[in-house]
Amino acid sequence: MWDDVKQLAGRIGNRRILDLFENANRAGEFSLHAVGMLFDYSKTQLDDQIRAALIKIAQDAGVEARRDEMFGGVKINETEGRAVLHTALRNLDGAPVLVDGKDVMPGVVETLKRMEAVANEIRNSGVSDVVNIGIGGSDLGPKMAAIALSPYHDGPRVHFVSNVDGADISDVLRQCDPATTAFIVASKTFTTIETMTNAQTAKDWLAHHGVSDEGRFVALSSNAEKAADWGIPGDKVIGFEDWVGGRYSLWGPIGLSLMVAIGVDAFRAFLRGAQEMDRHFCAAPLHQNMPVLLALVGVFHNQVRDYATRAVLPYDNRLSRLPAYLQQLEMESNGKGVSIDGKPLSVNSGPVVWGEPGTNGQHAFYQLIHQGTRTVPCEFMVGATGHEEDLRNHQDLLIANCLAQSEALMRGRSMAEAREILRAKGLEGDDLERQAAHRVFPGDRPSTTLVYPLLTPEVLGRIIALYEHRVFVEGVVLGINSYDQWGVELGKELATSLGPVVRGEVSSEGKDGSTRQLVEYVKLYS
Ligand code: F6P
Repeated sequence: MWDDVKQLAGRIGNRRILDLFENANRAGEFSLHAVGMLFDYSKTQLDDQIRAALIKIAQDAGVEARRDEMFGGVKINETEGRAVLHTALRNLDGAPVLVDGKDVMPGVVETLKRMEAVANEIRNSGVSDVVNIGIGGSDLGPKMAAIALSPYHDGPRVHFVSNVDGADISDVLRQCDPATTAFIVASKTFTTIETMTNAQTAKDWLAHHGVSDEGRFVALSSNAEKAADWGIPGDKVIGFEDWVGGRYSLWGPIGLSLMVAIGVDAFRAFLRGAQEMDRHFCAAPLHQNMPVLLALVGVFHNQVRDYATRAVLPYDNRLSRLPAYLQQLEMESNGKGVSIDGKPLSVNSGPVVWGEPGTNGQHAFYQLIHQGTRTVPCEFMVGATGHEEDLRNHQDLLIANCLAQSEALMRGRSMAEAREILRAKGLEGDDLERQAAHRVFPGDRPSTTLVYPLLTPEVLGRIIALYEHRVFVEGVVLGINSYDQWGVELGKELATSLGPVVRGEVSSEGKDGSTRQLVEYVKLYS
């Protein structure tokens, strides 16, 4: 399956990305306009043949059939025996989706209405602050989106507590008034130790201030029984099915904090944007399909060219948490070493995803991207406009910087050019040579750019759904199950067994020397 594309990649030789622009139509031929956005992947080494070979890989892997199975409620999460239906949560017109022969849509519509009722109640009842307590998918999505959509906030202030480090909840509660603060305990399983510990601390905080916790807690969970055991009555529990994975759960009850912040209409617009991307993903042929192309460019860089990491660089300050959100989405989904049939992968698993908003990153880590010895494919994104209409000069500078970076990465600067610049400043001889070497940029570094009109709820919905489907396509191409996360379990088990050791209730004997030494150091101070 990989032979053709690997052979073609092997033939790239000295060809530079810039050479590909000798084709005057390259930009148009290697970009895509869809659902109101422009995805430009022309600043990569993809040519017609490589693209065709990549599309063939997607076809041979059965991306289209698998996609239809996912949308149709087939249990494609085979290691957990579950369907994968986050897309049903934004299926706003309610067309039937069957799981085990039963239409799930009446339940989805009902749950959305319950969310809206609860959100409106919170928004209209004098609550000043809402604290979402959750971690991983029960935190990253709503937090990322709440920051992204801050211009639409017209409800109570929302805060997010995730870390079991007491610093997190302390710093948030310090900003809140116990008399007017409500808590959302967001946990699919309602067993996650960080979330349960923080929820108990929130309860204790209310008690400490003489405030009853009655009516102050809402639970978002698939485990209503555990929520009831914890003391949240059924009418304050908004449930969801096991076919919504944690890192894909933003569209349903886990999005309640976002809905409280931006209101039900804006939240529906967010869902509508995602649904538009779903439709595009289901209908567009592979070579004109944005999630498919985004995935295949990534596959080319990671699995074919062996570039181990990928930087996500939003030139949109409100997307500051997008890289963290995508880290979970992509690395928890496609960071697997075996294929669905349990055999070791013959190619790399998904890449390390990281990033920060531009322009800040430019003044921090871009040095390595431009001149380091490793190639880091970059994914830029930027809005054509910002919400700050009176600050158009800022937006123009932001866009200019974004475009300048992808151009600089591609063009680079040769030794001859560097010499020329320094010669004009009066340098010569050995000094000129030595100084010029430091000013060389190898260039030929690949990047893609996504441009959208403005970061509205609809557009954010489209972007997130784009990345979800990209992860799906990559997972199908790799032959893995993108919807389980067994790799997080071992650490959880060991943390449970180390708790009593750290508390001094149990001896550290039997642990390795390093762990024992670390425990002993901590005990000196605890
Ligand atoms: O430990 C990983 C994980 O299971 C993630 O997949 C999930 O998003 C997170 O923990 C939180 O889980 P829960 O919503 O059940 O508390």
